[in-house]
Amino acid sequence: MSITDSAAPQVPAQIQMMQLLAGFQVSQALYVVAKLDIATILSDGPRTVDQLAAEANADADALGRIIRFLATLGIFRTSGEEVEITQLGATLADDRADSLRYGALYWMETHYAPFGDLVHTARTGEIAATRHYGRPFFDWISADPERVEVQNRTFANVTNSLRAGMFDGYRLPDGAVVADLGGADGSMLAQLLADAPDRRGIVFDRPEIVPAARKTLADRGMADRVQSIGGDFFQSVPSADVYILSYILHDWDDEACRRILRAIVEAAEPGARVVLVEAVIPPGDAPHPAKVVDLTMLAMMGGRERTAEEYQALLDSAGFTLDRIVPSPTPFSFVEATLR
Ligand SMILES: C[S@@+](CC[C@H](N)C(=O)[O-])C[C@H]1O[C@@H](n2cnc3c(N)ncnc32)[C@H](O)[C@@H]1O
Repeated sequence: MSITDSAAPQVPAQIQMMQLLAGFQVSQALYVVAKLDIATILSDGPRTVDQLAAEANADADALGRIIRFLATLGIFRTSGEEVEITQLGATLADDRADSLRYGALYWMETHYAPFGDLVHTARTGEIAATRHYGRPFFDWISADPERVEVQNRTFANVTNSLRAGMFDGYRLPDGAVVADLGGADGSMLAQLLADAPDRRGIVFDRPEIVPAARKTLADRGMADRVQSIGGDFFQSVPSADVYILSYILHDWDDEACRRILRAIVEAAEPGARVVLVEAVIPPGDAPHPAKVVDLTMLAMMGGRERTAEEYQALLDSAGFTLDRIVPSPTPFSFVEATLR
Protein backbone atom coordinates (compact mmCIF):
# COMPACT_ATOMS: atom_id res chain seq x y z
CA MET A 1 0.00 0.00 0.00
CA SER A 2 1.35 3.45 -0.86
CA ILE A 3 1.24 6.46 1.42
CA THR A 4 -1.25 8.11 -0.94
CA ASP A 5 -3.89 5.38 -0.69
CA SER A 6 -6.97 7.12 0.60
CA ALA A 7 -8.90 4.18 2.06
CA ALA A 8 -8.39 5.54 5.58
CA PRO A 9 -9.37 2.47 7.60
CA GLN A 10 -6.70 0.38 5.84
CA VAL A 11 -3.90 2.90 6.38
CA PRO A 12 -1.76 1.69 9.29
CA ALA A 13 -1.99 3.92 12.36
CA GLN A 14 1.72 4.80 12.14
CA ILE A 15 1.35 6.02 8.56
CA GLN A 16 -1.72 8.06 9.49
CA MET A 17 0.22 9.57 12.38
CA MET A 18 3.16 10.50 10.14
CA GLN A 19 0.73 12.16 7.72
CA LEU A 20 -0.74 14.18 10.58
CA LEU A 21 2.71 15.12 11.84
CA ALA A 22 3.62 16.35 8.34
CA GLY A 23 1.02 19.12 8.69
CA PHE A 24 3.74 21.72 9.16
CA GLN A 25 5.19 20.85 5.74
CA VAL A 26 1.77 21.21 4.12
CA SER A 27 1.34 24.66 5.70
CA GLN A 28 4.77 25.84 4.57
CA ALA A 29 4.35 24.48 1.04
CA LEU A 30 1.00 26.28 0.70
CA TYR A 31 2.64 29.42 2.06
CA VAL A 32 5.19 29.23 -0.78
CA VAL A 33 2.31 29.16 -3.28
CA ALA A 34 0.70 32.19 -1.64
CA LYS A 35 3.88 34.20 -1.08
CA LEU A 36 5.26 33.65 -4.61
CA ASP A 37 1.76 34.23 -5.96
CA ILE A 38 1.90 31.01 -8.00
CA ALA A 39 -1.89 30.58 -8.07
CA THR A 40 -2.35 34.09 -9.49
CA ILE A 41 0.23 33.44 -12.20
CA LEU A 42 -1.59 30.23 -13.17
CA SER A 43 -5.01 31.95 -13.23
CA ASP A 44 -4.62 32.77 -16.91
CA GLY A 45 -3.51 29.29 -17.97
CA PRO A 46 -1.02 26.44 -17.42
CA ARG A 47 2.75 26.95 -17.42
CA THR A 48 5.77 24.71 -17.34
CA VAL A 49 7.66 24.63 -14.06
CA ASP A 50 10.53 26.53 -15.70
CA GLN A 51 8.19 29.27 -16.91
CA LEU A 52 6.54 29.49 -13.48
CA ALA A 53 9.91 29.65 -11.72
CA ALA A 54 11.06 32.42 -14.05
CA GLU A 55 7.87 34.46 -13.50
CA ALA A 56 7.89 33.92 -9.74
CA ASN A 57 11.62 34.50 -9.41
CA ALA A 58 12.05 31.03 -7.84
CA ASP A 59 14.37 28.05 -8.13
CA ALA A 60 12.86 25.68 -10.71
CA ASP A 61 13.97 22.45 -9.01
CA ALA A 62 12.70 23.49 -5.56
CA LEU A 63 9.44 24.88 -6.92
CA GLY A 64 8.85 21.76 -9.05
CA ARG A 65 9.22 19.50 -6.01
CA ILE A 66 6.86 21.63 -3.92
CA ILE A 67 4.32 21.53 -6.76
CA ARG A 68 4.72 17.72 -7.10
CA PHE A 69 3.90 17.32 -3.41
CA LEU A 70 0.97 19.73 -3.47
CA ALA A 71 -0.44 18.00 -6.56
CA THR A 72 -0.98 14.95 -4.31
CA LEU A 73 -3.25 17.16 -2.18
CA GLY A 74 -5.26 18.44 -5.14
CA ILE A 75 -3.71 21.93 -5.31
CA PHE A 76 -2.21 21.45 -8.79
CA ARG A 77 -2.73 19.11 -11.77
CA THR A 78 0.40 18.22 -13.65
CA SER A 79 0.84 16.69 -17.08
CA GLY A 80 4.45 16.14 -18.03
CA GLU A 81 6.15 19.49 -17.58
CA GLU A 82 2.90 21.42 -17.53
CA VAL A 83 1.28 22.67 -14.32
CA GLU A 84 -2.33 23.73 -13.95
CA ILE A 85 -4.02 25.17 -10.87
CA THR A 86 -7.11 23.34 -9.54
CA GLN A 87 -10.25 24.92 -8.13
CA LEU A 88 -8.88 24.26 -4.64
CA GLY A 89 -5.48 25.77 -5.42
CA ALA A 90 -7.13 28.80 -7.04
CA THR A 91 -8.44 29.90 -3.64
CA LEU A 92 -4.89 31.19 -3.08
CA ALA A 93 -5.00 33.43 -6.18
CA ASP A 94 -5.00 37.13 -5.45
CA ASP A 95 -7.24 38.24 -8.30
CA ARG A 96 -10.59 37.19 -6.83
CA ALA A 97 -12.84 38.68 -4.16
CA ASP A 98 -13.10 35.40 -2.21
CA SER A 99 -9.35 34.76 -2.19
CA LEU A 100 -7.68 33.23 0.86
CA ARG A 101 -4.19 34.36 -0.15
CA TYR A 102 -3.92 36.92 2.61
CA GLY A 103 -5.19 34.35 5.10
CA ALA A 104 -2.22 32.17 4.15
CA LEU A 105 0.23 35.07 4.47
CA TYR A 106 -1.25 36.21 7.80
CA TRP A 107 -1.31 32.77 9.39
CA MET A 108 2.13 31.77 8.32
CA GLU A 109 3.83 35.11 8.95
CA THR A 110 2.26 35.82 12.32
CA HIS A 111 0.82 32.59 13.78
CA TYR A 112 3.19 29.85 12.65
CA ALA A 113 6.22 30.78 14.76
CA PRO A 114 4.35 31.28 18.06
CA PHE A 115 2.74 27.87 17.62
CA GLY A 116 6.23 26.48 18.22
CA ASP A 117 5.58 27.45 21.85
CA LEU A 118 2.28 25.56 22.16
CA VAL A 119 3.90 23.12 24.59
CA HIS A 120 4.66 26.08 26.86
CA THR A 121 0.98 27.08 26.69
CA ALA A 122 -0.06 23.50 27.48
CA ARG A 123 2.23 23.42 30.52
CA THR A 124 1.49 26.85 31.93
CA GLY A 125 -1.69 28.18 30.32
CA GLU A 126 0.33 31.24 29.22
CA ILE A 127 -0.25 32.68 25.75
CA ALA A 128 2.39 31.41 23.30
CA ALA A 129 2.23 34.52 21.09
CA THR A 130 2.74 36.90 24.02
CA ARG A 131 5.82 34.93 25.04
CA HIS A 132 7.08 34.78 21.46
CA TYR A 133 6.59 38.46 20.59
CA GLY A 134 7.18 39.86 24.08
CA ARG A 135 3.82 41.66 24.07
CA PRO A 136 0.14 40.94 23.31
CA PHE A 137 -0.41 39.86 19.73
CA PHE A 138 -2.53 42.84 18.58
CA ASP A 139 0.03 45.25 20.06
CA TRP A 140 2.72 43.53 18.01
CA ILE A 141 0.55 43.71 14.88
CA SER A 142 -0.19 47.40 15.45
CA ALA A 143 3.50 48.29 15.64
CA ASP A 144 3.98 47.64 11.92
CA PRO A 145 1.73 49.10 9.18
CA GLU A 146 2.53 46.18 6.86
CA ARG A 147 1.24 43.69 9.43
CA VAL A 148 -1.85 45.84 9.91
CA GLU A 149 -2.43 45.78 6.15
CA VAL A 150 -2.06 41.98 5.94
CA GLN A 151 -4.41 41.54 8.91
CA ASN A 152 -7.04 43.86 7.41
CA ARG A 153 -6.91 42.08 4.07
CA THR A 154 -7.17 38.71 5.84
CA PHE A 155 -10.35 39.65 7.69
CA ALA A 156 -11.78 41.12 4.47
CA ASN A 157 -10.87 37.80 2.74
CA VAL A 158 -12.62 35.88 5.51
CA THR A 159 -15.76 37.98 5.17
CA ASN A 160 -15.78 37.54 1.38
CA SER A 161 -14.96 33.83 1.31
CA LEU A 162 -15.61 31.76 4.44
CA ARG A 163 -18.64 33.88 5.30
CA ALA A 164 -20.03 34.02 1.75
CA GLY A 165 -23.81 33.61 1.94
CA MET A 166 -23.89 33.87 5.71
CA PHE A 167 -26.05 37.00 5.70
CA ASP A 168 -28.53 35.65 3.13
CA GLY A 169 -31.92 35.67 4.79
CA TYR A 170 -30.57 37.18 8.03
CA ARG A 171 -31.91 40.53 9.22
CA LEU A 172 -30.20 42.48 11.98
CA PRO A 173 -32.42 43.32 14.98
CA ASP A 174 -34.26 46.64 14.60
CA GLY A 175 -32.45 49.82 15.59
CA ALA A 176 -31.48 53.05 13.86
CA VAL A 177 -27.76 52.98 14.66
CA VAL A 178 -25.64 49.85 14.26
CA ALA A 179 -22.10 49.82 15.69
CA ASP A 180 -19.64 47.14 14.60
CA LEU A 181 -17.10 46.94 17.43
CA GLY A 182 -13.72 45.68 16.21
CA GLY A 183 -15.26 46.13 12.77
CA ALA A 184 -11.85 46.04 11.03
CA ASP A 185 -11.96 47.53 7.52
CA GLY A 186 -15.76 47.85 7.56
CA SER A 187 -16.43 45.12 4.97
CA MET A 188 -18.99 43.37 7.15
CA LEU A 189 -20.98 46.42 8.21
CA ALA A 190 -20.98 47.71 4.63
CA GLN A 191 -22.48 44.37 3.56
CA LEU A 192 -25.03 44.30 6.40
CA LEU A 193 -26.25 47.86 5.85
CA ALA A 194 -26.24 47.78 2.05
CA ASP A 195 -29.96 46.88 1.94
CA ALA A 196 -30.93 49.09 4.89
CA PRO A 197 -30.62 52.67 3.58
CA ASP A 198 -32.46 54.11 6.61
CA ARG A 199 -29.95 52.84 9.13
CA ARG A 200 -26.77 54.54 10.17
CA GLY A 201 -23.58 52.72 11.12
CA ILE A 202 -20.35 53.04 13.08
CA VAL A 203 -17.25 50.99 12.43
CA PHE A 204 -15.26 51.08 15.67
CA ASP A 205 -11.74 49.69 15.84
CA ARG A 206 -8.25 50.55 16.97
CA PRO A 207 -7.14 53.94 15.61
CA GLU A 208 -4.61 52.47 13.19
CA ILE A 209 -7.40 50.51 11.45
CA VAL A 210 -9.60 53.58 10.83
CA PRO A 211 -8.00 54.67 7.50
CA ALA A 212 -8.72 51.23 5.96
CA ALA A 213 -12.35 51.40 7.15
CA ARG A 214 -12.79 54.94 5.78
CA LYS A 215 -11.51 53.75 2.41
CA THR A 216 -13.83 50.71 2.28
CA LEU A 217 -16.84 52.81 3.23
CA ALA A 218 -15.97 55.50 0.67
CA ASP A 219 -15.42 52.84 -2.03
CA ARG A 220 -18.85 51.34 -1.27
CA GLY A 221 -20.56 54.75 -1.31
CA MET A 222 -21.51 54.52 2.38
CA ALA A 223 -19.33 57.24 3.89
CA ASP A 224 -22.36 59.53 4.36
CA ARG A 225 -24.15 57.15 6.74
CA VAL A 226 -21.40 54.96 8.22
CA GLN A 227 -18.76 56.62 10.40
CA SER A 228 -15.36 55.20 11.32
CA ILE A 229 -14.26 55.80 14.88
CA GLY A 230 -10.96 54.80 16.47
CA GLY A 231 -10.77 53.76 20.12
CA ASP A 232 -10.36 50.98 22.64
CA PHE A 233 -13.41 48.82 23.33
CA PHE A 234 -12.08 48.05 26.80
CA GLN A 235 -12.38 51.76 27.67
CA SER A 236 -15.53 53.06 25.99
CA VAL A 237 -17.63 52.49 22.88
CA PRO A 238 -20.01 54.75 20.94
CA SER A 239 -23.71 54.83 21.72
CA ALA A 240 -25.84 52.66 19.41
CA ASP A 241 -29.05 50.62 19.25
CA VAL A 242 -27.48 47.44 17.87
CA TYR A 243 -23.93 46.27 18.53
CA ILE A 244 -22.19 43.73 16.32
CA LEU A 245 -19.26 41.87 17.85
CA SER A 246 -17.99 39.69 15.05
CA TYR A 247 -15.16 37.37 15.97
CA ILE A 248 -14.37 39.62 18.94
CA LEU A 249 -15.39 37.78 22.12
CA HIS A 250 -13.60 34.64 20.96
CA ASP A 251 -10.33 36.62 21.14
CA TRP A 252 -10.61 37.16 24.88
CA ASP A 253 -11.02 35.31 28.17
CA ASP A 254 -14.29 35.70 30.10
CA GLU A 255 -13.09 38.59 32.27
CA ALA A 256 -11.87 40.62 29.27
CA CYS A 257 -15.15 39.88 27.44
CA ARG A 258 -17.08 41.25 30.40
CA ARG A 259 -15.04 44.46 30.20
CA ILE A 260 -16.06 44.90 26.55
CA LEU A 261 -19.70 44.10 27.36
CA ARG A 262 -19.63 46.53 30.28
CA ALA A 263 -18.44 49.29 27.94
CA ILE A 264 -21.61 48.60 25.93
CA VAL A 265 -23.70 48.71 29.12
CA GLU A 266 -22.23 52.17 29.84
CA ALA A 267 -22.97 53.49 26.34
CA ALA A 268 -26.34 51.90 25.55
CA GLU A 269 -29.94 52.06 26.78
CA PRO A 270 -31.67 48.99 28.25
CA GLY A 271 -33.22 47.08 25.35
CA ALA A 272 -30.16 47.63 23.15
CA ARG A 273 -29.34 44.54 21.13
CA VAL A 274 -26.05 42.72 20.75
CA VAL A 275 -25.28 40.36 17.88
CA LEU A 276 -22.27 38.12 18.29
CA VAL A 277 -21.00 36.60 15.06
CA GLU A 278 -19.18 33.52 16.26
CA ALA A 279 -18.71 29.85 15.47
CA VAL A 280 -20.51 28.12 18.34
CA ILE A 281 -18.87 24.84 19.38
CA PRO A 282 -21.30 21.92 19.01
CA PRO A 283 -21.26 19.07 21.54
CA GLY A 284 -19.44 15.80 20.76
CA ASP A 285 -16.34 14.79 18.84
CA ALA A 286 -17.53 15.64 15.34
CA PRO A 287 -15.15 17.91 13.42
CA HIS A 288 -16.04 21.60 13.47
CA PRO A 289 -13.89 24.56 12.34
CA ALA A 290 -14.38 26.23 15.74
CA LYS A 291 -12.41 23.43 17.40
CA VAL A 292 -9.34 24.36 15.33
CA VAL A 293 -9.84 28.10 15.74
CA ASP A 294 -10.05 27.44 19.47
CA LEU A 295 -6.39 26.37 19.36
CA THR A 296 -5.55 29.63 17.58
CA MET A 297 -7.25 31.52 20.40
CA LEU A 298 -5.43 29.45 23.00
CA ALA A 299 -1.98 30.03 21.56
CA MET A 300 -2.33 33.55 20.14
CA MET A 301 -4.80 35.47 22.26
CA GLY A 302 -5.77 33.67 25.44
CA GLY A 303 -9.33 33.67 24.10
CA ARG A 304 -11.58 30.69 23.40
CA GLU A 305 -14.35 29.41 21.18
CA ARG A 306 -17.47 28.78 23.26
CA THR A 307 -20.49 26.51 23.40
CA ALA A 308 -24.04 27.91 23.42
CA GLU A 309 -24.21 27.42 27.19
CA GLU A 310 -20.93 29.28 27.66
CA TYR A 311 -22.18 32.24 25.60
CA GLN A 312 -25.40 32.30 27.59
CA ALA A 313 -23.55 32.35 30.92
CA LEU A 314 -21.06 34.98 29.74
CA LEU A 315 -23.76 37.32 28.41
CA ASP A 316 -25.88 36.81 31.49
CA SER A 317 -22.99 37.69 33.81
CA ALA A 318 -22.61 41.05 32.01
CA GLY A 319 -26.31 41.99 32.13
CA PHE A 320 -27.53 40.63 28.77
CA THR A 321 -30.18 38.00 28.08
CA LEU A 322 -29.46 35.61 25.22
CA ASP A 323 -32.50 35.71 22.91
CA ARG A 324 -31.64 33.19 20.22
CA ILE A 325 -28.84 31.66 18.21
CA VAL A 326 -29.47 31.85 14.48
CA PRO A 327 -27.40 29.37 12.46
CA SER A 328 -26.16 30.32 8.99
CA PRO A 329 -25.11 28.24 5.98
CA THR A 330 -21.49 28.79 7.14
CA PRO A 331 -19.81 27.61 10.38
CA PHE A 332 -20.78 30.98 11.92
CA SER A 333 -23.94 31.76 13.87
CA PHE A 334 -25.62 34.96 15.04
CA VAL A 335 -25.93 35.00 18.82
CA GLU A 336 -28.54 37.65 19.64
CA ALA A 337 -28.93 39.16 23.10
CA THR A 338 -30.70 42.09 24.77
CA LEU A 339 -29.36 44.46 27.41
CA ARG A 340 -31.57 44.11 30.49
C1 LIG B 1 -10.49 38.89 14.91
S1 LIG B 1 -10.60 40.53 14.31
C2 LIG B 1 -12.29 40.58 13.80
C3 LIG B 1 -12.53 41.58 12.73
C4 LIG B 1 -13.93 41.65 12.17
N1 LIG B 1 -14.90 42.01 13.20
C5 LIG B 1 -14.32 40.35 11.52
O1 LIG B 1 -15.21 39.65 12.02
O2 LIG B 1 -13.73 40.01 10.46
C6 LIG B 1 -10.52 41.49 15.78
C7 LIG B 1 -10.62 43.00 15.56
O3 LIG B 1 -10.65 43.61 16.83
C8 LIG B 1 -9.87 44.79 16.78
N2 LIG B 1 -9.46 45.13 18.14
C9 LIG B 1 -8.57 44.48 18.92
N3 LIG B 1 -8.44 45.08 20.11
C10 LIG B 1 -9.28 46.17 20.09
C11 LIG B 1 -9.59 47.18 21.04
N4 LIG B 1 -9.02 47.19 22.25
N5 LIG B 1 -10.49 48.13 20.69
C12 LIG B 1 -11.07 48.12 19.46
N6 LIG B 1 -10.82 47.17 18.51
C13 LIG B 1 -9.92 46.21 18.82
C14 LIG B 1 -8.72 44.39 15.87
O4 LIG B 1 -8.04 45.52 15.38
C15 LIG B 1 -9.44 43.57 14.81
O5 LIG B 1 -9.89 44.39 13.75
